[in-house]
Amino acid sequence: MSTWTSDHIPDQTGRTAVVTGANAGIGYETALALAKKGAHVVLACRSEQRGTDALRQIEAEQPAGSAELMLLDLADLDSVRTFAEAFWAKYVRLDLLINNAGVMVPPESKTAQGFELQFGVNVIGHFALTGLLMSALAEAPGSRVVTLSSLAHRQGRIDFDNLRGEKEYKPMREYMQSKLGDLIFAIELQRRLEAAGQDTISLGAHPGFTATELQRHSGLWNTLVGLWSNTPAVGALPTLYAATAPDAEPGGYYGPRGVFEARGHPAPAKVMPHARDRQTAERLWAMAEEATGVHFFHEVLAQAA
Ligand SMILES: NC(=O)c1ccc[n+]([C@@H]2O[C@H](COP(=O)([O-])OP(=O)(O)OC[C@H]3O[C@@H](n4cnc5c(N)ncnc54)[C@H](OP(=O)(O)O)[C@@H]3O)[C@@H](O)[C@H]2O)c1
Repeated sequence: MSTWTSDHIPDQTGRTAVVTGANAGIGYETALALAKKGAHVVLACRSEQRGTDALRQIEAEQPAGSAELMLLDLADLDSVRTFAEAFWAKYVRLDLLINNAGVMVPPESKTAQGFELQFGVNVIGHFALTGLLMSALAEAPGSRVVTLSSLAHRQGRIDFDNLRGEKEYKPMREYMQSKLGDLIFAIELQRRLEAAGQDTISLGAHPGFTATELQRHSGLWNTLVGLWSNTPAVGALPTLYAATAPDAEPGGYYGPRGVFEARGHPAPAKVMPHARDRQTAERLWAMAEEATGVHFFHEVLAQAA
């Protein structure tokens, strides 16, 4: 794994990938790299304009594969369901789901269903999307789900009394909570896939410090990232490794291998013990199923029937 680059991505011809937030930053570079290796990539974006611009840019690179835009707003579960229905109407199988989209320290706001925006988009929206696409993932041998977490998960804590912004808004605390939620989800999904005897695997990834638009609301973070950051193409490598490397481990978590996992090429990343806590994972899962109405393995059975 010493210097794994996008050149190491195995041929993706004939495979279909969905990348959320594919119009910018790490998501754009992930989509481009997969398309260059032959995949058909669905750019799952909330803005038609920004999504179309990204699609044009990818097409201008004349990749071996192809791309298309499908609209998805993770801040609204109705939009997530509409996206899934549009996907089922067109595709039988899904090889790669990249849960990449994210918001960081925005002004206080809520999703359509009343979750604090960061928790709602980063965790709940992706939870529902993954559950709804489970049956398509089950159709593809060797399919994978990669969910983006962050170094910020290390300081995160899931406060079940503050997922809907019940307490005074602390933007960074809420971001850390959401990125811990993402990693708990990635690890718990792998446990449940294994228990259900499914072939699909779930992994987590983080990009260290990467210069993207994510930090648009954060002056301090902007300065730190600006000083010490990966380009978006390098920041996408842990995601691409988790998504495609033959030796990536089911349930594994990958990030940059440099000092403090801030920069560099992919390597196994440190998972804090609280991200593996089974009790928190089960409680989070039950809450998310109830809030979204998406019951993972029931969806697979219902659609197979
Ligand atoms: N950059 C870093 O240093 C860093 C560090 C740790 C983790 N991460 C994680 O990496 C992932 C990608 O972030 P990035 O750095 O590439 O940020 P970015 O450049 O801001 O890209 C974020 C993407 O998410 C999309 N998005 C935001 N809200 C959405 C919603 N409601 N529905 C659908 N899409 C939505 C954005 O769409 P719009 O363009 O329409 O806003 C954009 O395409 C995130 O999960 C982030 O938490 C990044």
